[in-house]
Amino acid sequence: MKAASIVSETVQPAAHLRLVSDRAGDTSGITLSGVSKTYRTRDGDVPSLRPLDFHIDDGEFFVVVGPSGCGKSTLLKLISGLLPPTSGEVLVEGEKVTAPHGNVGIVFQNALLLPWRNVLGNVMLPIDMKRLPRQQYLDRARSLLNLVGLEGFEKKLPWQLSGGMQQRASICRALVHDPRIMLMDEPFGALDALTRERMNVELMRIQRETRKTVLLITHSIPEAVFLADRVLVMTERPGAIAAIYDVPLPRPRSLDVMADPAFTELVQRIRKHFFSQGSLD
Ligand SMILES: Nc1ncnc2c1ncn2[C@@H]1O[C@H](COP(=O)(O)OP(=O)(O)O)[C@@H](O)[C@H]1O
Ligand SMILES: [Mg+2]
Repeated sequence: MKAASIVSETVQPAAHLRLVSDRAGDTSGITLSGVSKTYRTRDGDVPSLRPLDFHIDDGEFFVVVGPSGCGKSTLLKLISGLLPPTSGEVLVEGEKVTAPHGNVGIVFQNALLLPWRNVLGNVMLPIDMKRLPRQQYLDRARSLLNLVGLEGFEKKLPWQLSGGMQQRASICRALVHDPRIMLMDEPFGALDALTRERMNVELMRIQRETRKTVLLITHSIPEAVFLADRVLVMTERPGAIAAIYDVPLPRPRSLDVMADPAFTELVQRIRKHFFSQGSLD
């Protein structure tokens, strides 16, 4: 009940709808209109997402938190075009998403590097798969590796890298073809706390330097507040929008911001959504 009262306090469905309709003709960012997903299985239907309406601005850092199984990964697959929605439509830069599109880089929870390719070869994988001119992208791959502190590791095989280094390589792989949008599904879930904090700082710097639109899923509320321009809180499955919070903390942010009363207050507010629900992932 507690969660419900907070939800009614903070959710303004009308505002979400207005966000979408005000943007008719706006071709930037990501727009979801009535997007729902029900998996059809042999054992029956599994409603996974209720109809969702929201807009992510171009260049925005947008973070989604929600209980385990509420449909977060499903949401990411719908936006990336890996899955079709059951109803509604996803627009990316004004174009309806009907199949995987080239404007997106995806980072999954595990780095998923190919063990037989060295670091540079793994980063170059999207270029090889898209048959883009290799020579033209090699410099870009190298400068991305520099950006995440992996210079000198280009020739190493994945097993020669720590988990954090592998995940940084996978971020370079998602960026190498210069997608305008990064979709990240719990990218730091498998990392130790210190590496995770370093990766947060690094990701924020990359996003600022490259001006990407980022949608990141996490089960860490402090991580969400630290990174985000806005945090979308989801209900339990079938997932709906419980609330969307603006994060009023100035940028650039350092880890010190976590001691800011505005930071801790927002973390607490978001945490309250989950008191009477299942735990986060
Ligand atoms: N391919 C599928 N077929 C049937 N049900 C699925 C499939 N993928 C996910 N689900 C179900 O949909 C719900 C949401 O899954 P998911 O998006 O992976 O949640 P989350 O990422 O929030 O943990 C879960 O209950 C899950 O069991
Ligand atoms: Mg998931």
